[in-house]
Amino acid sequence: MGKIVGGITTSHIPAVGNAIAREMFQDPYWKPFFDGYPPVRDWLAEVRPDVAIVIYNDHGLNFFLDAMPTFAIGAATEYRNEDEGWGIPTIPPFKGKPELSWHIIEQAVADEFDITSCQQMAVDHGFCVPMQLLWPDRDTMPAAVPVHINTVQHPMASPSRCHRLGQSIGAAIESWPEDIKVVVLGTGGLSHQLDGERAGFINKDFDLMCMDKIVDRPDELAAFSVLDLVRDAGAQGTELVQWLTMRGALTGKVTKLHSNYHIPISNTGAGLMLLENA
Ligand code: DHB
Ligand code: FE
Repeated sequence: MGKIVGGITTSHIPAVGNAIAREMFQDPYWKPFFDGYPPVRDWLAEVRPDVAIVIYNDHGLNFFLDAMPTFAIGAATEYRNEDEGWGIPTIPPFKGKPELSWHIIEQAVADEFDITSCQQMAVDHGFCVPMQLLWPDRDTMPAAVPVHINTVQHPMASPSRCHRLGQSIGAAIESWPEDIKVVVLGTGGLSHQLDGERAGFINKDFDLMCMDKIVDRPDELAAFSVLDLVRDAGAQGTELVQWLTMRGALTGKVTKLHSNYHIPISNTGAGLMLLENA
């Protein structure tokens, strides 16, 4: 049976990809951000998950505004990275686990979520930056199932619907016949707005409230509307739905093992959390 060992949330800021490439880990600007990660890496080295479900949003690399699926799940043997124009070096492809992908897609569609299934999928910074942060040693990196949620173009799925999609993904993992350990990543957030009159908007109080409630009271976060998130967390703060989807997939008793919050990193309130699922 698939065992969900825990959930990890992390921001996925492209500038972090550049800082990794330049090894700026001790730089005074970056140190408080990178220093958050070793406890999570230690936990991953101990638990050694076989698969990572990576819930993120594509920002225009694989899907563009002309055709934007609300939910898309990768079902490929590998996922390539490509140049997005941020100046981040392109990195080698990530390993997939297509049989598990199809199992999750089958469950989600049976649960009445309309999923775009992707037998080819390029993965952008929303996927790659967290994978690099969590597994700097590629040899230890697990296979991945990418799950894209549209937070780029309105209309977007509501936070509660995303939370329920997470529950469907969790049920699928637990009904997978093989004995595997699965970690679920929710990437993006927290508050940020990249354009328009409120460009640079960050809401620390809101971010810390989300980091508190995601542990034991995700229903209270799921009660927000998309426009509530835009108001309180900025236009791109809608990426919080990826955290909620992750949380929906945690089926057991959830314990916070570690968290870190630092502002600003680029334009974003950068949050990191490790939640154990027992
Ligand atoms: C930034 C944050 C994001 O989540 C993103 O997708 C792009 C840029 C930023 O803070 O610069
Ligand atoms: Fe983003």
